[in-house]
Amino acid sequence: MEREKNELPPYSAVANPEWPRRHRAIRRSRGLRVVALACLAFIVYAQWRQIHRGPKSSPTLLSIPKLQDDLEVCSKLRSKPKDPIGAGRHRNARYIDGHKPTLIRNATIWVGEPVKGTTAEEARAGIGYSWTYGDVFIEYGLIKKVEKNIDANTLSSDTLVWDAKGRHLTTGIIDMHSHSGVNGLPGLVGNDDTNELSADITPYVRSIDGIDPNDHQLEVIKSGGVTTSLVLPGSGNNIGGEAFVIKHAVGKPDGRNETSAADMLADPDRNWRYIKMACGENAKRVYGKAGEQGPTSRLGESWEFRHAFEQAAKLVRDQDDWCAAADTVGVENMDRYLPQDLEWETLGAVLRGQVHVNTHCYTIPDLEAFVDHTNEFKFPIRAFHHAHQTFLVPEILKRAWGDSPPASALFADNMWYKTEAYIGSEYAGKILYENGLTPIYVSDNPVLNAQHVVFEAAKAYDYGLPYHAALASVTTAPAERLGFEKRLGKIKPGFDADIVVWDSDPLSVGATPVQIWIDGTAQYENPVELPKSINPRIDMSKVIQTTKETPIAISHLIITGVSKSFIDAKSASEGHGRQNLTAVVLNGRVTCLGTCTEEIQTAQTGGAQIISLENGYMTKPFTAFGSLVGLNAIDAEQATDNGGSPDVFSRGVDGLALDTKKLHYALKYGVTRAISSPKYSAAATHQGTSVGFRTGAKHALEKGAVFADDAAVHYTLDLHAKTGSTSISNAVGSLRRKLLEAVESNTTASDPFSESAFLQRVVKGSLSLAITVHSADVIAAILKVKRTVDDAIVSAGGDSSLRVVIIGGAESFIVADELAAANVGVVLSPLFSYRTTWDQRRALTGAPLTNGTAVDRLIEAGVLVAIGLEEDWIVRDLGLLAGAVYKNGGGKIDQSQALDLIGANVYKLLGLESEADKGDIEEFVVFEGNPLEVGSHVRAVGAGLGEVKVFEYE
Ligand SMILES: *[C@@H]1O[C@H](CO)[C@@H](O)[C@H](O)[C@H]1NC(C)=O
Ligand SMILES: *[C@@H]1O[C@H](CO)[C@@H](O)[C@H](O)[C@H]1NC(C)=O
Ligand SMILES: *[C@@H]1O[C@H](CO)[C@@H](O)[C@H](O)[C@H]1NC(C)=O
Ligand SMILES: *[C@@H]1O[C@H](CO)[C@@H](O)[C@H](O)[C@H]1NC(C)=O
Ligand SMILES: *[C@@H]1O[C@H](CO)[C@@H](O)[C@H](O)[C@H]1NC(C)=O
Repeated sequence: MEREKNELPPYSAVANPEWPRRHRAIRRSRGLRVVALACLAFIVYAQWRQIHRGPKSSPTLLSIPKLQDDLEVCSKLRSKPKDPIGAGRHRNARYIDGHKPTLIRNATIWVGEPVKGTTAEEARAGIGYSWTYGDVFIEYGLIKKVEKNIDANTLSSDTLVWDAKGRHLTTGIIDMHSHSGVNGLPGLVGNDDTNELSADITPYVRSIDGIDPNDHQLEVIKSGGVTTSLVLPGSGNNIGGEAFVIKHAVGKPDGRNETSAADMLADPDRNWRYIKMACGENAKRVYGKAGEQGPTSRLGESWEFRHAFEQAAKLVRDQDDWCAAADTVGVENMDRYLPQDLEWETLGAVLRGQVHVNTHCYTIPDLEAFVDHTNEFKFPIRAFHHAHQTFLVPEILKRAWGDSPPASALFADNMWYKTEAYIGSEYAGKILYENGLTPIYVSDNPVLNAQHVVFEAAKAYDYGLPYHAALASVTTAPAERLGFEKRLGKIKPGFDADIVVWDSDPLSVGATPVQIWIDGTAQYENPVELPKSINPRIDMSKVIQTTKETPIAISHLIITGVSKSFIDAKSASEGHGRQNLTAVVLNGRVTCLGTCTEEIQTAQTGGAQIISLENGYMTKPFTAFGSLVGLNAIDAEQATDNGGSPDVFSRGVDGLALDTKKLHYALKYGVTRAISSPKYSAAATHQGTSVGFRTGAKHALEKGAVFADDAAVHYTLDLHAKTGSTSISNAVGSLRRKLLEAVESNTTASDPFSESAFLQRVVKGSLSLAITVHSADVIAAILKVKRTVDDAIVSAGGDSSLRVVIIGGAESFIVADELAAANVGVVLSPLFSYRTTWDQRRALTGAPLTNGTAVDRLIEAGVLVAIGLEEDWIVRDLGLLAGAVYKNGGGKIDQSQALDLIGANVYKLLGLESEADKGDIEEFVVFEGNPLEVGSHVRAVGAGLGEVKVFEYE
C-alpha cells in the first residue's frame, strides 16, 4: 500500500475523515488514537508558538541540519520500492569493467516464459513453453541477444565465443532459502552465525553481518548451477532478522574485484529488503521456560508476533505524524527530532511495505495464525517456507493480506523429522499448483545441499508437478517472489547474464553444469566435465501420473509391457533380454517372465488383475541400510523413537516398531527391506546389532517379517564418538580392546545376546563389524585395528578375519586402495557428502569442481560399495540416487550394478548373500519407467509377505 503524502494524517484530525480509517488499519485501539490525537494537538500548539515567536528566534536547541536530515528520512519512509528494472539498462550494476562480451553458440535454450500470444491460462497449463535452439550474446553483465545464429562478425572483436554443442542452457538457479555464508561448512562452533539467540524477536539483526565469503559451500552450491540465494537467518526465533539476496560469485577467482558480502549482493541498489520469521516448534523449544519467559506455546508465539508488530505500528504512526507536521509547519520549526528506533525500524519498514516477508510455518495452526497477523497489521507475505501443510489449505493462503497469495517454499520429499514435519506430501507441489498457488523448491542449506536444489525440482516433476512449473519453481517463481522478476530467472535480453549450460536435461537425474556465467562472467577456467552423451530430452508434454497412497493387496497378476527385467526369477521359463515381456504372478510369486501363454491362462482363470505398462521395469527389492526406519516414526520425538545412548549396546530386533508411516512409504517406493541398528546418540549413528526386516510387515511375529535377527554389530566412530569424556583415540582403543578380549576369550558368554557374545561371533568371522565413520584418518586407524585383531586371531589358532564395513565414508575414497586391499566395503551415507562436518571436510562434491565423488573413486579401486540412508526420508529416493551414480559414472557400472548399490551389495557386504538371492520370486518391484530416472513410479511390489501390493493411479 503506497503512502502518498496526501494520505498522511492531516494537521487537523477532524479536517479529513480519511485518517481515522487509516489508523484503524494499523491498530484497532481507541486508546492509542486518543494518545496520538493528544500528540498532534501538542505539536500544533508547539508549532503555533514557534511561528508566533518568529522564524529567526531559536525555540529549541535542536540542530537544523539534523532536522533537515530527518526530513530526508521522511521521504525514504514514504517511498515504496518497485521491482528493479531489467530491460532498458545499458549495463548491469554488478558488471566489472574489463570483462569481455561472450557469445554462447549452439544451445538448447529454456527462455523461462511461453511464446508471445500465449494466454495466462494456457501458460499455466504449460502451453507455449519449449526448449528452443539458438545463441545467446552477453555484454556488460546483461543478456543482450537471444537469437538463432547470431553473426559473430556483427559483435565486437574481443567477444569470447563458447560452443554449447547443443546442450541445455537455462538461467541460473535461484535458491530462495539458504543459510550459506552464515552457517559455514564444515560446521564449527566458531563459524555458526545462523541464529541470534539472545532474544526471540530480533528483527534488528541482519544476515549480511555474518555472511562469510570464505565459506567454501558458496562455491559448492554454485557448482550445481545455483547463481542466486536468499540468505536467511535461522528459524530459532519468531522474528529472526533481515535476509539478503546474494550471487555466488566471490572474490577475484570468480571475476569479482573484492571479497566481500556487499560485493555479492544481487541488487547493489538494495531496492527491496527481506526478513525472516518463523512459527511453530522452534521458538517455543528454544525460548520457552515455564514461569520465566515465553513463548512456551504457539499461543505465546502469536502474542510475541503481535506485540512486536504493535511496537512497529506505534513507531510508524509517530514517524508519520512527525513527517506530516514537519511538512506543514516547516521542519526547522519542529521542536523534536524524528522518532527513530533501531529496534523496530525493520518491522516498521515491513508495515510500510518495503520488506519482503518470508515466514517458516509448517502446520495449519501456524499458517492460519500468521495469515491472521498479516490481516491485523496489514502487511503482505511473499512465501511460507517449510510450508508442509499448505497443500491442505489453499484457501487459508488465499486470505493472506495483500495482492497475491504467498508461495510455498518446500522440499520435494524431506519430511517426518519433527512433529510439524510429520504431515506432508510429495505431491504438495502438484496440488498447490492445481489450486493456483506457487510451489518453490529450496534447500535450507545445509539441511539439504543447495548444490542439488535443482534435483528437488526434478523430484517435484517426478511427483506430478508439470515440467514447466517444476523448472519455474527454481527460476522464475523465486525471482518473482524476491522482486527480481525483471532481472533474474529468464534467458531474455535485459536480464542479468546468469547462465548455466548443463550436461543433460536439468530435470534429469544427475544433471550437472558444464559452465556457469554470473553477470556475464564465466565462473570456471577448467571445469571437470563428466563423460556423458547428450541425453534425449525429457518429453515435457507427458503427464506424470501419481499413485494412490494406499495399495491394494492382490495375489494373482498379469503384468504386460515389461521392457526390462533385473530379476532373476528361477522358475521363469523363458528368456530375458527381450522387449515387451509379460510377467505372471500367482499367489504372490512370479511364475513366469517372457511370453507366458500357459501361465496367463492359469492366472486369468484365477481372476488375475492385469497391469499394462508402457515401459515397464522389474527389479529386485531395494534395501534401506543404516537408517532408523523400523525403530522410529518421527525423528525428533522421543515418544516415537527406540532411543539410544553411548552407554547402551542393544539389539535392533528387540526395539522393532513396525507399521509406521516411514515404512509405508518405504514399501511404496520399492524398499521392501531394511536393516536398521539402534542409534548410538543421534540419527545416522549406530550401536548394537542391526535387524533385517521386511518393511511391509505389521509386526515382528508375522511370517517373514524378520530375515536377520542380527545382521551386523555396529559401533560409531564419527564425531559423535567424542561425547563426554571420550576421545576418538579412546573410542578406537576401546573397540580394539573389546575385539582382542573376544579373541582371547575361550568361555562362552552366559548371555548369547550380550555385546561380548556378539563380538565373539565377529572375531570368528560369522558376523560383520559395521563402523560409522567419515574421517579418512579414523578409517586408517580402524584398518590398523583390523590388522592387529586379525593377527591376534591367527596367533590364537583361528583362521578367520574381521569382516569390516564402513558406514558414512565421506573421506573413505582417500584410503580407497587400502580399503580394497583389506577387503573392507563402504556404505556411503550420505551418497554425496557436502562436508557438513569437520570429519567430512575432504569429501569430493563432484563436477564441475571435482572429478567425480567418493563412489567413483571407490568403485575404481575395487571397493564394494552400497548406498546408505543418513536420514529416513531418503527411502523414497534410493532408485534416483543409484541412477545418479550410473548416469555420472562414465560407464563404470551398468544399470544392474547401479541397482545392486541399493540391494545386492548390502548383502554381500554383510555376508548375507544367500538372503539376497532368496527373495527373487516373491520379492520384486514393478515400475512404470526406468527406476534410475526421473518420471518412473512403482506400480506393484512383491513385499515378500505372501501378497503383492498394487498401487493404482489417482
Ligand atoms: C569494483 O568494481 C566496481 C564496479 O565496477 C567499482 O565500483 C568498485 O570501485 C570496484 N572496487 C575495487 C576495489 O576495485
Ligand atoms: C550444434 O551442436 C550439435 C551437437 O554437438 C551438433 O551436432 C551441431 O552440428 C551443432 N550445430 C552448429 C550450428 O554448430
Ligand atoms: C577423472 O577421473 C577419471 C578416472 O580416474 C579419468 O579417467 C579422467 O580422465 C578424469 N577426468 C578429468 C577431467 O580429470
Ligand atoms: C506387448 O505384448 C502384449 C501381450 O503380449 C501385446 O498385447 C502388446 O501389443 C505388445 N506391445 C508392444 C508394444 O509390442
Ligand atoms: C583359556 O585361556 C587361558 C589363557 O589363554 C588358558 O590359561 C586356559 O587354560 C583356557 N581355558 C580353556 C578351557 O581353554
